[in-house]
Amino acid sequence: MFKPKEILVPTDFSEYSEAALAQAVELAQQFGSKIHLVHVSAQDAEHMPMFFLDDEKVGEVKKHLAEYNKQLMDAKIEKFIKGKNVNYETHFETGSPYDKILKLADILKVDLIVISSKGKNALEGFFTGSTTEKVVRKANCCVFLVRKVLQ
Ligand SMILES: Nc1ncnc2c1ncn2[C@@H]1O[C@H](COP(=O)(O)OP(=O)(O)OP(=O)(O)O)[C@@H](O)[C@H]1O
Ligand SMILES: [Mg+2]
Repeated sequence: MFKPKEILVPTDFSEYSEAALAQAVELAQQFGSKIHLVHVSAQDAEHMPMFFLDDEKVGEVKKHLAEYNKQLMDAKIEKFIKGKNVNYETHFETGSPYDKILKLADILKVDLIVISSKGKNALEGFFTGSTTEKVVRKANCCVFLVRKVLQ
């Protein structure tokens, strides 16, 4: 029987990715799995159009972004994981979301990635977003695709 030990759950903090996290928590409770929650910042502050800022200010912007992402992550943990008796770890990456998700899946040797079909840029008429499409196509492990329809 397939019993995932380590589950990777990518989140862009959207309502869609909440659905995947809720599903992953149920699986983790059932199988005693550990959840690895990852957010990838698509843009490094150094590559944002902030040529008018000096290095010190760019450093401050980076720090604020990191703190903001941590707050959003903490809110998801509070809402979906706390009190559920599930072991978890958080990961923050910078770069191309699908690339970092796939690399982390390999590094952590996860057995399963639980991901929503869409994310924060969801477009009507497309079945999956571009991150999910690449994760499903290129992952070296099983992928559980959560199909969420927002009202
Ligand atoms: N930056 C990110 N960090 C972590 N997970 C992400 C990130 N971006 C997307 N994901 C994951 O992929 C899922 C699908 O998002 P995806 O980006 O594929 O679709 P989208 O945002 O609707 O469309 P688009 O292809 O225009 O970005 C999200 O629900 C989330 O789980
Ligand atoms: Mg997206």
